[in-house]
Amino acid sequence: MDLAGIRMANPVMTASGTSGFGPEHAQFMDLRRLGAFVTKAVSPEVRKGNPPERIVETRGGMLNAIGLANVGLERFVAEKVPFLQGVGVPVIVNVVGHKIEDYQTVCRRLDEIECIAGLELNVSCPNVVDGLEFGTDSVRLAKLVSAVRPLVKRAKLIVKLSPNVTDVTETARAAVESGAEILSVINTLCGMAINVETWKPMLANRTGGLSGPAIKPVAIFMVNRVYEKVAKAAGVPIIGMGGITDWRDAVEFLLAGATAVAVGTALFVDPQAPLHIVDGIAAYLQRKKIPCVRDLVGQLK
Ligand SMILES: Cc1cc2nc3c(=O)[nH]c(=O)nc-3n(C[C@H](O)[C@H](O)[C@H](O)COP(=O)(O)O)c2cc1C
Repeated sequence: MDLAGIRMANPVMTASGTSGFGPEHAQFMDLRRLGAFVTKAVSPEVRKGNPPERIVETRGGMLNAIGLANVGLERFVAEKVPFLQGVGVPVIVNVVGHKIEDYQTVCRRLDEIECIAGLELNVSCPNVVDGLEFGTDSVRLAKLVSAVRPLVKRAKLIVKLSPNVTDVTETARAAVESGAEILSVINTLCGMAINVETWKPMLANRTGGLSGPAIKPVAIFMVNRVYEKVAKAAGVPIIGMGGITDWRDAVEFLLAGATAVAVGTALFVDPQAPLHIVDGIAAYLQRKKIPCVRDLVGQLK
């Protein structure tokens, strides 16, 4: 199948931040069975991230406030890219920063690296100018995507939308009009959990991002809205994610308008979940006598 020019054997990929930079996940499954591998966010500088607790289990999901811990751009290139060059499937690198120049620095450098098929902008990160997330306002988002656009010449430019907005079609439109070639929908929802014995937040960071099955209906809604109102007419494919656990979840996202799907939190329960989803979709297509997965995209009645 084809995702805006990225050739994939199947529509299932990992969701950023849930399977490291590759080797961590390769211990548990054959990554060559994936449609694509998506890395943890890369920022220009090394980031230690937030202190623990950084992850809390919630009913039907989990809250995380990792703080974008990563090895930084130069160590990523030196230490992580060699593994990714041999991974055998398209690689998408998630990119993060606190100012526009951070995104430019990472994208300029990584666009030179042949094995990287896509650069996915994580825009759910507060910027240094006003402390607000890039991805929660269409003007701020357009400024960021337009500034990065000319630097991404070879790889596909992907914008990962934040669900923490009133109308996701506004930010989706801003991303597409500024040059996004693929949209990822959705990142985590803002959340919080409190320990009733200590009266303290469960996460050291106080708040975090909610993911997992609890957010799936929100994600399906947003994928469908973005597909119907923006992406379909623009011919921009969507990578759908948020709570996907099994093949039925994945098929729901495809019917809602996603061309591919990503699996995140489910990997913490079953690191081989993507394999079961790939096989489940194949069996479903066969049972329904549907020739290819593309025939499901946006077919919601
Ligand atoms: C532990 C953890 C770390 C994450 N790190 C990133 C990240 O670095 N960049 C990013 O864009 N999204 C990150 N995400 C969001 C996921 O990629 C995904 O959009 C979200 O979790 C919804 O999918 P899921 O319910 O299948 O996990 C992270 C999620 C989790 C749970």
